[in-house]
Amino acid sequence: MDLQLEGKIIVVTGGAKGIGDGIVKVLAGEGALPVIIGRNKEDNLKALDEISHKGNHVVAELTNPDECKKAIDAVLNMYGRIDGLVNNAGVNDGVNLENGDYDRFMASLHKNLVHYYLMAHWALPSLIQSKGAIVNISSKTAETGQGGTSAYAAANGGRNALTREWAVELLKYGVRVNAVIVAESYTPLYEKWIQTLPDPDEALKRITDKIPLGQRMTTTEEIGSTVAFLLSEKSSHTTGQLIHVDGGYVHLDRAL
Ligand SMILES: NC(=O)c1ccc[n+]([C@@H]2O[C@H](COP(=O)([O-])OP(=O)(O)OC[C@H]3O[C@@H](n4cnc5c(N)ncnc54)[C@H](O)[C@@H]3O)[C@@H](O)[C@H]2O)c1
Repeated sequence: MDLQLEGKIIVVTGGAKGIGDGIVKVLAGEGALPVIIGRNKEDNLKALDEISHKGNHVVAELTNPDECKKAIDAVLNMYGRIDGLVNNAGVNDGVNLENGDYDRFMASLHKNLVHYYLMAHWALPSLIQSKGAIVNISSKTAETGQGGTSAYAAANGGRNALTREWAVELLKYGVRVNAVIVAESYTPLYEKWIQTLPDPDEALKRITDKIPLGQRMTTTEEIGSTVAFLLSEKSSHTTGQLIHVDGGYVHLDRAL
């Protein structure tokens, strides 16, 4: 299937590493021009190197609202258009109910949710012009809970709600909005998290053994392929959907 993404300008937040990097690689493979928005110039350039610079990058710290606008302005200065936005940057930062506090809770919402809104807000005029699409990356924690991560779970609930909300608001423009929900994907963020557990190797085995399809983690390329499809015209009648690319983790029988 030709996704017809050739030459499309797709903004990918957090595109230098992990899931974002997987998305960027798939998009570049389809001939699109991904624009990585990330906080670390070296990381951005390394990821761009790996796709032979068929795309671009903007250095931005997305917890800073001004930098969200500047990032979109920079993309428009480079290309004059935006065909797709992938909101992906975030971190599972473990702000829990018992020992968390107001400042850490609010800071986590800025790390995980507020920039999703701001990036879509500033990119919207261009997306309306191009009849583009938005894909929000989200986490199973909104639906299953995880324990010990109130703010991150709340942010993911917000990501899912905004997906439906924007799908409705943008019907009149033909701009489609979908979410890809991830459960377990081994990325630099995941590795950092698993290393905080008492026995990381045992924990990793315990978790992967419970993933129904193949008892393995979802690869970042598998997530990238679904994102590319949702950005493309081949999914032209799909909007407001929360698509679980998780090997059946959230919905299949627990007795498996
Ligand atoms: N890894 C998983 O199993 C998993 C599961 C569910 C959801 N997710 C979601 O996927 C997304 C990506 O996760 P990942 O595991 O690939 O993370 P990662 O840390 O491996 O990669 C994220 C990239 O985004 C950048 N980034 C993060 N916050 C940023 C900010 N505020 N400003 C600029 N750059 C920023 C990081 O520097 C990094 O390059 C997150 O939003 C997370 O909620 C991941």
